[in-house]
Amino acid sequence: MEKLLSSWSSAAIHLPENYVFPVHSRPGDATVPFCNTLPIIDLNTAFAGARQDAVQQVLEACQDFGVFQVINHGVDEDLVIDTMRVVKEFFDMPNEDKANVYSEDPNKKCRLYTSTYDYENEKVHLWRDNLRHHCHPIDEFIHLWPQKPARYRDVVKKYSLQVGDLSSRILDLICEGLGLGPTYFGDGLIGAQLFSANHYPPCPNPDLALGLPKHCDANLITFLLQDDIYGLQLYRNGEWLGIEPIPNAFVVILGHQAQVISNGKLTSPEHRAVTNSTDHRISIVYSINPKPDSIIEPAKVLINDSNPPLYQAFQFKEFLKTYEVKKDYNEGALEDFKIKA
Ligand code: OGA
Ligand code: NI
Repeated sequence: MEKLLSSWSSAAIHLPENYVFPVHSRPGDATVPFCNTLPIIDLNTAFAGARQDAVQQVLEACQDFGVFQVINHGVDEDLVIDTMRVVKEFFDMPNEDKANVYSEDPNKKCRLYTSTYDYENEKVHLWRDNLRHHCHPIDEFIHLWPQKPARYRDVVKKYSLQVGDLSSRILDLICEGLGLGPTYFGDGLIGAQLFSANHYPPCPNPDLALGLPKHCDANLITFLLQDDIYGLQLYRNGEWLGIEPIPNAFVVILGHQAQVISNGKLTSPEHRAVTNSTDHRISIVYSINPKPDSIIEPAKVLINDSNPPLYQAFQFKEFLKTYEVKKDYNEGALEDFKIKA
C-alpha cells in the first residue's frame, strides 16, 4: 500500500523522477483554455416530447466531438452529490481501512491500486490512485465492494443502477441517430459495467506529471462525473482544451467501440487528466463495455457501396489485448483492425 499516492504524496516536495513524463507528452505550464463550444445537452428535451431534437443534438455532438455534457439527465441530484461524497470519504480513510480492497492483481473484480494495471513495468507512473469495481449485474459483485464507509455499497448501488439506466437512454438516442435498430446496444452486446473512481492528489509539479496520459477509452461509452476541481482535457484539432466542470452534469465520452460500430461516423476523442498543486480532485467514471466475446464490427446498415467498412470484425477481448499490449492508448490501438484500402 506504500505505493499509493495517498500514502506519501502529501509529504512530497519534489516530483520523483519516475513520475516525470517525456517532454512531448507532459502538460507544461502553458494555459489551456476551456472548450467553450463543447455541446451541453439538456435531456429534458428528449423526454418532454422533443425527442427528435435530442437525437439530432446527440448525433451531432458524437460526430463532431465524440464528447459532450448532459444536464437534466434524470440521475437524482442528491444521489450524485452523495456518491461524490462517499467516494471522497473512501479515499480519505486511513490505510488500514482501505487495506482489504488494495490489490496489485489486475484480474481482481474490485480493487484499489495506483497508476495503471502494470505499475511494475510502466516507464512513467501516473499521478492517480484508482478504485475500480464491476457493477453489472450488481448482485454478482456487490459483496466485493468496499465495506467502509458503511454506506458505500448502498449509495454506489443506487448510483450504478441510475447511471446504467442513463447509459441505456443515451445509447438509444445514439442508435436512433445512426439508424440502427433500437436493440443494437442491448443485452446481447453489453457486458461489464465498471465503476472507476480516480483520486488525483495535489502534485508538486503539475507541469511534468499526468493523472492520465492522452488516450481514447477502450470501451463503448463512458459517463464521467467530475467534482468542481478542473483537470479533464480534450485534444481537438491539434490542441488541448479544458472541459469545464458543471455541477451535476455528466461528461459523456465515446469509446473506440462506438467508433468501430458506427464505421467511423462517430468519433472517439483523445483526452487526458492533468493535476494541480493545491487541490485533491476526484472523478467517477462509469464505463460501459461490450461482452468479451461480443463481435464488434461496423453495423451492417451503415455499409453500402459508397460506405465500405473501415474496420474488420473482431472480438472485444482481442481488441483489449492489443490496447494493453501496444501500450498505445490513442488512435493507434485501432490500427490493427483497420481495413487497408
Ligand atoms: C478515464 C478518464 C479522466 C478524468 O478514466 O478514462 O479519462 O478526468 N478520466 O479523470
Ligand atoms: Ni478516459
